[in-house]
Amino acid sequence: MTRFNPFRPHSIVHPGMFAGRYDEMIALEKALFQTRNGNPTHFLIDGERGIGKSSLLVNVEGVAKGTFEPLEDPLRLNFITVNVCLDAAHTYSDIIRGIGSELRRQIASREQIKEFARGAWEFLSKWEIGGVRFRDDKRREAKDTELAEELTFAIARSLDSLGTGVDGVVILVDEADKPPASANLGSLMKLLTERLRLRGCDRVCIGLAGLPTLREKLRASHESSLRLFNVFALNPLSAEECMEVLRRGLAEAKDVNGFEVKITDEAARSLAFITEGYPHFVQQFAYCAFDADSDNNIDIDDLSKGAYAENGALKQLGLKYFEKQYFDQIWSDEYRQVLQVMAKHFDHWVTKAEIRKEALRLKASTLDNALSALKTRGIIAAKKGTKGTYKLPSRSFAVWIRAYTQTEELIASTPPGQAAAPDASNRDSAGPDSPVS
Ligand SMILES: Nc1ncnc2c1ncn2[C@@H]1O[C@H](COP(=O)(O)OP(=O)(O)O)[C@@H](O)[C@H]1O
Ligand SMILES: [Mg+2]
Repeated sequence: MTRFNPFRPHSIVHPGMFAGRYDEMIALEKALFQTRNGNPTHFLIDGERGIGKSSLLVNVEGVAKGTFEPLEDPLRLNFITVNVCLDAAHTYSDIIRGIGSELRRQIASREQIKEFARGAWEFLSKWEIGGVRFRDDKRREAKDTELAEELTFAIARSLDSLGTGVDGVVILVDEADKPPASANLGSLMKLLTERLRLRGCDRVCIGLAGLPTLREKLRASHESSLRLFNVFALNPLSAEECMEVLRRGLAEAKDVNGFEVKITDEAARSLAFITEGYPHFVQQFAYCAFDADSDNNIDIDDLSKGAYAENGALKQLGLKYFEKQYFDQIWSDEYRQVLQVMAKHFDHWVTKAEIRKEALRLKASTLDNALSALKTRGIIAAKKGTKGTYKLPSRSFAVWIRAYTQTEELIASTPPGQAAAPDASNRDSAGPDSPVS
């Protein structure tokens, strides 16, 4: 029988299943409150892929525009919000124009806006039509500054026209790590916030989200730009919060299906344990366990089946997040063994000597080859200035390798209430002399 599966490994979490992030939400609500009262507080959300940045951003957006109730304040907010997502092809002026067009649309939909303020946005069409690219750097720079200037002017005019009816403007920029260094996001932010202040536009706040590399990118673009932002680094959910995701999902399924699907305590605990609280892992494992279950009671077997099936959770996550790193680029089991040993140390630095000690079956020369190949392909990082010290690029990659290389029995033997995963055992290790293609 086909049942509605409530878990969403592929999309931003909807409010019904949004779990945890309580401290962040309270702090972000405060930032909105400050902005509303003329003390704009910009923020930056960073963390690994799949940790829940976009989901948090959407939740903040909902609170800002009054769709969701704030956690603490009884008062619903009424900001004009825009949420733009950047990509690797975005230039400096693309970013401003993208924000501008989205804002214009949002503002134009407000009835109260006066004609003169509508007119303030005409610069966008003008720029779009005359979107000439200047070869000469000086002229291009002047044009970029002018564009930021016009955007600020249009925002100021519109806010004046709307009066106290709105709380202000919230500009959300997702995947802000994506544009190349030449897009100069740090300078752009600096310029934009400065111009807004000069024009007395003090009810506008900017929120960025991106990978941890975003901070470095901002700093490289403009030294003090990072200081404009309150930084929130997202961590995995706690075991209790994972359970909350499961509870909420199953409650939603009950509503839609008209009957209950339960999960055993053991399976729930085990799921929190192997996923280590990574929200994208939680959604994917829960989705597959739900899918594998046939008696409306998700147990350890369903979890295990869902995880290891041909197209199960681990495969899906691998394809979506790590396949390039783990499969495409590495053909040999020796390489995988090295990764498995490194995964025991999560994303901490490990020396070659340590790896050697733990990967006993690897010959010294094989280990050398493996490390240098993994390094060249960007699968592991080498510590600058310290010879023979390496780490995995992200903690979630380590968690995935550990889960992937665990035997299924290990899922079943989750120690109650424990936070760290058991040692990965060699699930698919080949002999030391198998060919390296
Ligand atoms: N707080 C949360 N509670 C439950 N699920 C979440 C939460 N945050 C994220 N998720 C889920 O995790 C996955 C990745 O979330 P997303 O916001 O796209 O991460 P990011 O933007 O950091 O890559 C999605 O499937 C989403 O539904
Ligand atoms: Mg995202």
